[in-house]
Amino acid sequence: MFARKDIIEILKDESKNEWLFSLADKIRKDNVGDEIHLRGLIEFSNICKCSCKYCGLRSPNKEVSRYRILKDELLEYAKNAVKMGYKTLVLQSGEDEFYTQEKMVEIIKEIKKLDVALTLSIGERSYEDYQAFKEAGADRYLIRIETTDRQLYKNMHPNMDFNNRVRCLKDLRKLGYEVGTGCLVGLPNQTIESLADDILFFKEINADMVGIGPFISNPQTPLKNYPNGNFELSLKVMALTRIMLPDINIPATTAMETLNPNGRIIALQSGANVVMPNVTTTEYRAKYKIYPNKICITENPDKCRNCIEAKIKSIGRTISTGYGFSHPKQ
Ligand code: SAM
Ligand code: SF4
Ligand code: FES
Repeated sequence: MFARKDIIEILKDESKNEWLFSLADKIRKDNVGDEIHLRGLIEFSNICKCSCKYCGLRSPNKEVSRYRILKDELLEYAKNAVKMGYKTLVLQSGEDEFYTQEKMVEIIKEIKKLDVALTLSIGERSYEDYQAFKEAGADRYLIRIETTDRQLYKNMHPNMDFNNRVRCLKDLRKLGYEVGTGCLVGLPNQTIESLADDILFFKEINADMVGIGPFISNPQTPLKNYPNGNFELSLKVMALTRIMLPDINIPATTAMETLNPNGRIIALQSGANVVMPNVTTTEYRAKYKIYPNKICITENPDKCRNCIEAKIKSIGRTISTGYGFSHPKQ
């Protein structure tokens, strides 16, 4: 365990990187073992009412061709993913009000009939919505805090409220979800000190899952002139998160691989134990354009499954056949 000042020092000191990555890898192995959990990701709508400055799905972006996948088609992807061996599905979208509480409950109930763990990542909703989704069978919820620097949060998220984001995380915890959060690394004017605070925040809320990704500059957003986040720094934030929260689930994120062709494997060897391959067909992948050069946009679900399985085996790790709930030793 590190104190805030140690975290800051490690983040600033490039000479400690290799030591940090191997320590995180060892802590991962000792606490969650060599199994990697694969989560099948269904990006079911790229329509969003928000205007997060970094994201290509933000509502003012007119250059994105918008889509919604309706229940029946969504279930086809879910069934196909289960056939391929996925034990967890993740439903992700923009904040799309078309998917009312009622519509989501219907979808959740149908998916739960497939005997899978279900994660939702559909943004800020009311306590009542989260409660209805939980009662319908949802197991986990991902909502990144993005940054704990309140001023930066305000600058990045017009018309959104940091306190409401925290309220969502608290509500989800209270309702018994496994709670996933995380942050972006490399946002304009983000400080190393605030990244240390992000890690301490994950610890404070006792997160079950933490996803960390570099900011990737999107030419269709107001942040188009800012540089991408740094791969190594993102990896360091991730490794420190593993050390501070030894038994949680940590994904090797798609954004890491977008910045480094071997990014997910490097992440899996520096503290991560989860990968989230896309299980929708090519038609939608390119349209879920959060940032440019996203990986796998011309692939299909089988190709991604085979590709990731081969990569995982090549580093001597195995694929879990369980649901992959967090805190395995409890
Ligand atoms: N709308 C939901 C939400 O915001 O929680 C889920 C979908 S959103 C596209 C998923 C994540 O994408 C966000 O939490 C954010 O961290 C990440 N993201 C958005 N734009 C990005 C960018 N330009 N670079 C890297 N990650 C980005
Ligand atoms: Fe919408 Fe999520 Fe993108 Fe923000 S990050 S614009 S909420 S899809
Ligand atoms: Fe999609 Fe490798 S995971 S092609």
